[in-house]
Amino acid sequence: MTGMETDAPLRRKTAVITGAARGLGRACAIRFAQEGADLVLVDVADDVAGVPYPLGSADQLEYTADLCRSHNVSVLTVVADIRDPVSVHRVAALALERFGTVHILLNNAGIAAPSGKAVHDIDEAEWDLMIGIDLTGAWRMMKAVVPTMIEQRSGSVINIASTAGLVGYRHFAGYVAAKHGLIGLTKAAALDYAPFRVRINALCPGSVRDDPVHEGRMLAEIARSLEVDVDEHEDIFVQSQPMNSLIEPHDVAGAAVWLAGDDSRQVTGTTLTVDGGFSAR
Ligand SMILES: NC(=O)c1ccc[n+]([C@@H]2O[C@H](COP(=O)([O-])OP(=O)(O)OC[C@H]3O[C@@H](n4cnc5c(N)ncnc54)[C@H](O)[C@@H]3O)[C@@H](O)[C@H]2O)c1
Repeated sequence: MTGMETDAPLRRKTAVITGAARGLGRACAIRFAQEGADLVLVDVADDVAGVPYPLGSADQLEYTADLCRSHNVSVLTVVADIRDPVSVHRVAALALERFGTVHILLNNAGIAAPSGKAVHDIDEAEWDLMIGIDLTGAWRMMKAVVPTMIEQRSGSVINIASTAGLVGYRHFAGYVAAKHGLIGLTKAAALDYAPFRVRINALCPGSVRDDPVHEGRMLAEIARSLEVDVDEHEDIFVQSQPMNSLIEPHDVAGAAVWLAGDDSRQVTGTTLTVDGGFSAR
């Protein structure tokens, strides 16, 4: 073990990360591993009926795990759909069985579509699917994992929301409502758990580049939903970012490491934007 590894801010901590097969979940997993955390990597690892694009796969989840193990941390992968309470409780039980406790929960799993409709055109199933994954899934994971954190009187939950949790986007009401709800859930939970020193924060990325290394798909899928030209979508999304560049997955991972670690020990109930200034206007 090198000196640098000893100083790693997440050494001796265990983190559960949902949606870890690819994209931001993979980027955060790798960065958490670099910072010394043992990991429970969770993904549905299958397509979900009603989501009009492929989700992460079992191979991608195992690939993320291999990338993390190369940083000399222990990694457990669990295939679970965060819509299913039984599977979610199995995640918590397997994490406790393998690592004895959980210090960090990164609620990252999410979908961007079905979207692209005005509010009155969204049907019941589309609404339930969006809220069920992007809002209720995070609540369900907290319900399963936070009791362990209360018991040990420490823990950090990071809910990946979005700038869509702060402002509206046209023809994106389900996603916008879910992410606004996630920020509300974050604030309420922060108050519930502050006496136990369990911290709950939201992280709001702006438009994140679909980096091929992490195989993220969301920005292209948002473009497709909003009928933005997929070949030009990066240039179009850049125009809304005051710093004139897309967010990179490692920008989000760096903020997640800070929220996860002890340097942010007095930070709870906050909403941290990583959006190149988008929400400052
Ligand atoms: N990419 C962006 O521009 C952007 C911007 C703001 C916020 N976000 C948020 O960041 C998070 C990650 O997005 P991403 O860009 O990496 O997307 P992505 O589609 O590349 O990855 C999402 C992962 O979540 C998994 N997942 C989806 N539904 C699941 C379920 N029911 N149970 C378990 N796993 C499930 C998928 O299989 C996939 O591996 C999402 O919550 C998203 O809303 C993304």
